[in-house]
Amino acid sequence: MNSPKLSDRTNSGLILENRLHLERLVSAEAPTPAEVNAGSDVVSGLTQNPKSLPPKYFYDDRGSTLFEMICQLPEYYLTRTETAILQERAGEIARLTGPCEIVELGSGSSTKTRILLDACSQLEYPLHYVPIDISPSILESSAHQLLADYPSLQIHGIVSTYELALAKLAPSHLPTRMLCFLGSTLGNLNPQECDIFFSQIVGALQPGEYFLLGIDLDKSQEILEPAYDDSQGVTAAFNLNMLRHLNRKFEGNFDLTQFEHLAFYDREECQIEMHLRSKLAQTVNLRSLDLTVEFAAGETIRSEISRKFNLNTLREELSRRGLRPVQVWTDPNQWFGLMLCQLTVDSW
Ligand code: AVJ
Repeated sequence: MNSPKLSDRTNSGLILENRLHLERLVSAEAPTPAEVNAGSDVVSGLTQNPKSLPPKYFYDDRGSTLFEMICQLPEYYLTRTETAILQERAGEIARLTGPCEIVELGSGSSTKTRILLDACSQLEYPLHYVPIDISPSILESSAHQLLADYPSLQIHGIVSTYELALAKLAPSHLPTRMLCFLGSTLGNLNPQECDIFFSQIVGALQPGEYFLLGIDLDKSQEILEPAYDDSQGVTAAFNLNMLRHLNRKFEGNFDLTQFEHLAFYDREECQIEMHLRSKLAQTVNLRSLDLTVEFAAGETIRSEISRKFNLNTLREELSRRGLRPVQVWTDPNQWFGLMLCQLTVDSW
């Protein structure tokens, strides 16, 4: 079987049996901005004090596989809990929205989306799905599996960053649309980035359209920290893999045996922080970025923040932005929250 390939020309696509349309979004003003700026975020992050790196560098092929393994860990309650809430509430969500196009930011393997698709299909809604992901291979393979499993499903997949996809989202094919942002990925954004992100969401929706948001809630350190420092060391491997990814991408010479994984909860900031700690004083080069970085013994690079939210605070923040919370669900432990919001008519 020859599997169709994505074209990388602007707005070009590929149609399969008229049910699959895949496109790669490229900004018209600055062609392939990601490549032009490639690594500038690495340079700025590693030349700052304290050092940090953007979490998107976790997700090369190996990192994406490690993340899928994290989702199965006994300590990593997030995926399991959100899935359980979705399983219990998908029917209710579908009845609240009515027939709607499902748009998903960071669709990955689309595992959780299947629960929503099942609920829509039970109500005999037409099925339209717009997965958006930065990784073309994951997008393509999960789209093919979905098409095989849902005979009436139409997919319009977009390979893109969130920002560009939200700016260029075409009008919905169905009476309304539900923009899904699951897995508490929102937690990777600091408050300022979060603010910008919510304006982009508001800008992408029409009044009356929906936003489904999955968020991890604040809880005790005894539950939070093991979720980011599991006994099998999968999260440690995931964190260290970022250095391997940078080595390959930017001709670097990080020695993975000379760094160690660190995860802790900052109760003041309500966030888990993951760091890579240098075991000794060392110098690292990233040749293609023309960058030399000195590390003191014990110095760390912050590789991720994972914020933990308060439902009421977030509810108010979303309301202020015109994203009216229609319904909020949690699990019996109140570990994870799922919010369905609707863009009010008088929003900007
Ligand atoms: C994908 C950002 C939601 O913050 O929990 C998992 C990533 N990092 N283990 C999270 C992650 C370490 C995850 N998000």
